[in-house]
Amino acid sequence: MQSKKTAFIGAGNMARAIMNGICSSPLKKTYKIHVYDVNPDAVKLSVKKFKASPLSSCAQAVSECEIIILAVKPQNFPEVMASIKENLTPKTLLISIAAGISIAKIYSLLGKNPQVVRVMPNTPALVGEGAAGYSFSDNVSAAHKKDAEGILSTFCKVSVLLGENKINAVTALSGSGPAYIFYFMEAMLKAAGELNLDAATAKALTAQTFIGSAKLFLDSEEDAATLRKNVTSKGGTTESAINLMEQKNVREAVRLAVIAAKERADELGK
Ligand SMILES: NC(=O)c1ccc[n+]([C@@H]2O[C@H](COP(=O)([O-])OP(=O)(O)OC[C@H]3O[C@@H](n4cnc5c(N)ncnc54)[C@H](OP(=O)(O)O)[C@@H]3O)[C@@H](O)[C@H]2O)c1
Repeated sequence: MQSKKTAFIGAGNMARAIMNGICSSPLKKTYKIHVYDVNPDAVKLSVKKFKASPLSSCAQAVSECEIIILAVKPQNFPEVMASIKENLTPKTLLISIAAGISIAKIYSLLGKNPQVVRVMPNTPALVGEGAAGYSFSDNVSAAHKKDAEGILSTFCKVSVLLGENKINAVTALSGSGPAYIFYFMEAMLKAAGELNLDAATAKALTAQTFIGSAKLFLDSEEDAATLRKNVTSKGGTTESAINLMEQKNVREAVRLAVIAAKERADELGK
């Protein structure tokens, strides 16, 4: 099968996570990586680490490559769209991972309606464990849907196709979600220090507790509340911890925090 030229515009953290995913998967032969970034060091790194072919401009990316992965920050979108619009053809597939940039916004910046996939990944993609929601514009071909889903599968363990009106909810849940988990970890590690556990031991036990609990939740037929009750015996240690969290309204704070993130995503998208 002939390989498909795939260009990254922006070669920062998320782009490198995706390049790493592609290069570590059997799809590395299908998608030949090209890269453009305003920062020459970012290009050099991708060339060295992923054997990417360097490009000299956004315009060159679009004139030479069939699939374009837009991995710049949202504030850089206007300049990137301005520099690709001329050479864009109806065959090009744009894959955007930018938070808050809608397909309609991409169309209005370009003044044309190419095939677009909007993806909301998260940082565990850096270790091939990402979770993502994604939406297609209504003109994406079956072949390009297969391309997008194949590429997504190389850096996300879970990816869910959704209507675009759900993407801000995904941003609030799994996009920002790693920060909520790290916040919880920070608090647990602080307590572990106060309880005289050394940092390495506390890190190993905390991390495995999150991994193991998530795996148990995935493999179990029981819901999260039942799994929690299963480890909370009457008068026991867990019960005293959970009672304190309930008194401090931790559950309500987390619920409101996720909703606040969704509302902020809505505002940023306007
Ligand atoms: N990090 C996350 O958790 C996360 C999660 C989901 C989605 N995303 C999305 O992923 C995208 C990339 O995020 P990131 O964290 O990977 O950003 P990043 O590390 O800052 O990478 C962006 C790269 O694009 C370069 N760039 C800026 N303007 C450019 C232009 N006109 N043409 C080509 N390259 C240009 C930047 O160079 P300079 O540094 O020199 O400006 C930088 O090297 C963002 O849109 C973000 O919303 C991120």
